[in-house]
Amino acid sequence: MAPRTILYTGKGGVGKTSVAAATARRCAAAGMKTIVLSTDPAHSLSDSLETELGAEATEVGPRLFGQEVEAQQEMERHWEAVQEWLGELLAQRGVDQISAEELTVPPGMDELFSLLQIKQHHETEEYDAIVVDCAPTGETLRLLSFPDVASWWLEKVFPWEKRVVAAARPFARTFLDMSLPSEAVFDDVQRLVHNLVAMNSILRDRSATSLRLVMNPDRMVISEAMRTFTYLNLYGYLTDAVVVNRVFPPEVEGTYFGPWRERQQEHLELVESAFSPVPVLRAPYFEAEVVGPAMLDRLADALFADGDPAAVLHSTLSQELVVGHHSARLRLDLPFAERGDVSLKKIGLELVVRVDGQKRTIMLPPGLAGFKPREAKLEEGTLEVRFEASDG
Ligand SMILES: Nc1ncnc2c1ncn2[C@@H]1O[C@H](COP(=O)(O)OP(=O)(O)OP(=O)(O)O)[C@@H](O)[C@H]1O
Ligand SMILES: [Mg+2]
Repeated sequence: MAPRTILYTGKGGVGKTSVAAATARRCAAAGMKTIVLSTDPAHSLSDSLETELGAEATEVGPRLFGQEVEAQQEMERHWEAVQEWLGELLAQRGVDQISAEELTVPPGMDELFSLLQIKQHHETEEYDAIVVDCAPTGETLRLLSFPDVASWWLEKVFPWEKRVVAAARPFARTFLDMSLPSEAVFDDVQRLVHNLVAMNSILRDRSATSLRLVMNPDRMVISEAMRTFTYLNLYGYLTDAVVVNRVFPPEVEGTYFGPWRERQQEHLELVESAFSPVPVLRAPYFEAEVVGPAMLDRLADALFADGDPAAVLHSTLSQELVVGHHSARLRLDLPFAERGDVSLKKIGLELVVRVDGQKRTIMLPPGLAGFKPREAKLEEGTLEVRFEASDG
């Protein structure tokens, strides 16, 4: 059975690391062999757990392991040939070495390689539970959305390009002042794409994998979490809970923080209405920082009470396709998407949905080859696209 995999994401500083560490401790205490790993290049997991962690999994307690994935190390392992080739190419073009080094690593690439550790842990079947402390929202999302594109590239562009480059290499050396990528470069890229495709199916496995959005009861933080939720749904990743951390407790009433608490209570209503029916877990603003086992366990108690932290807390499919003889219906949950923001395009079997500048390519089953999208209705966060057979 696939290990239970929980990814925590959210805006900077909201409590992702604390919540991930707390969840992992809870899972281990409940008898699951658990690893908590941080893929955020700015690690703070070891501070949170008050233990030394390294790039490889380290045992930090009964059934509990921790890991701070070293992006640079993963990059060297997976991307060295590409870096060398691009670096050389840029150097030939007069780019200095420091800039060249930065340019050979596309933004977000480092976390991407770190996330591949999840796949590694799935393959070894070492752990019952994998808890991931991700980098803040934006980056993680972009990375998560990538495998769709990657698999398309792998199937369509890659075999062709590899042949063309192989054929052109002797000419390029002679007539152009550039070195074409070597086999090793292609191997790196191909391996990366394969890995991403594999990882994408791990992340899409809703029976075992889910994301949880961490936020504070602040307007701007909630808004960003709502956008993230929309995109996760669009990518087909299950959000099984949202976490509202640092809620002022009743004790602050009558103090400077009293009005803050009132404001937070209003925002909590927004959270309920926005993410419903996804369960909302809450934790108070403690009187001290959440550092070390005792505080982490207090945080876990607040979040899960007697509940199972590893349970899939919500399992609604956000995407559904029903195919009939002459028509088909695709239902997409797109919470918070505005009517004007959605556009659709079908090219062959690919349906391209755009929401607020983000793009998702949905591969429709071959049965839908002869179908055309006829009507798209967006109602209360659900987009329904009706397809009709084009000959009738
Ligand atoms: N419920 C809470 N009560 C009090 N302090 C908290 C609470 N949750 C987290 N903290 C503290 O807030 C700080 C930020 O938390 P944490 O590092 O978990 O956030 P993060 O989302 O991982 O941040 P980053 O985006 O920087 O990685 C830490 O000092 C942590 O101890
Ligand atoms: Mg963190």
